[in-house]
Amino acid sequence: MSEAGDAPAAPPAPRKRRVQGGLATADVVLSAHAGGNAALFPQILALHVPAGSLVADVTFGQGVFWREVPPGRYRLLASDLATGTDCRALPHADASLDALVLDPPYMEGLLRPKPETRGGLGSHAALRRYYDAGGGRAGPGGGRWHQAVLDLYLDAAREARRVLRDHGILIVKCQDEVSANRQELTHVQIVTGLAALGFYARDLFVLMRPNRPGIARLLRQVHARKNHSYFLVFQKVPAGQEVARYRSRGPVPPRAG
Ligand SMILES: C[S@@+](CC[C@H](N)C(=O)[O-])C[C@H]1O[C@@H](n2cnc3c(N)ncnc32)[C@H](O)[C@@H]1O
Repeated sequence: MSEAGDAPAAPPAPRKRRVQGGLATADVVLSAHAGGNAALFPQILALHVPAGSLVADVTFGQGVFWREVPPGRYRLLASDLATGTDCRALPHADASLDALVLDPPYMEGLLRPKPETRGGLGSHAALRRYYDAGGGRAGPGGGRWHQAVLDLYLDAAREARRVLRDHGILIVKCQDEVSANRQELTHVQIVTGLAALGFYARDLFVLMRPNRPGIARLLRQVHARKNHSYFLVFQKVPAGQEVARYRSRGPVPPRAG
């Protein structure tokens, strides 16, 4: 309280009102989509990979992912085992890429040793030959063939870490599977495995088939039939930083080059 003769105490300054930025909109990229890879992939790129980035798609296949990406938006380096480049031994220099896309075969059914119980040929044939020749290992749950699928993801991610710049983006396509009567949550195994390699799981997209899958011979249904797959978006955590403490920032601008 002021004493007689003192100047009256100044009133407290009005508190500054915090102004909330941003726009009210429903026009945002969503985490779950019904449809195909070609429609979703450009949205993932638009959110996480700035235009002009140097991007290697190391399992390019038929290039379906890129069909609806505006031509010239990215500097794309496309490769595939079918054209002579193994995603586990890339020709790119260390820390030279802004982003990398990985979509290897993700079903053990295509790797079974007996031709009569084996799945289709096509894009999975090279992987099957490799594992038929002893490349696969027995996994902890005896899921030898599923472990072969997982090994390919992990070995490729190790190589991706070498060629990506710090904070670079790794986009991984995968699908869970039931293999040898075991539920294999491949997307969880990949997130866990890649964290151990120094990748932060920045985003996750679920892609749902728009049509119902056909079943050739159903005896008794034990697990839900899978009609969804995932795009996982990882970021390379620089050496010496903890994955558990890493935080998302805005997209990393491409390096000139
Ligand atoms: C599911 S397809 C990829 C489809 C592709 N994302 C597209 O949009 O067309 C899997 C691809 O992985 C390739 N592949 C299998 N093993 C590989 C390896 N070790 N290194 C590189 N590519 C491999 C296959 O040849 C096949 O083209």
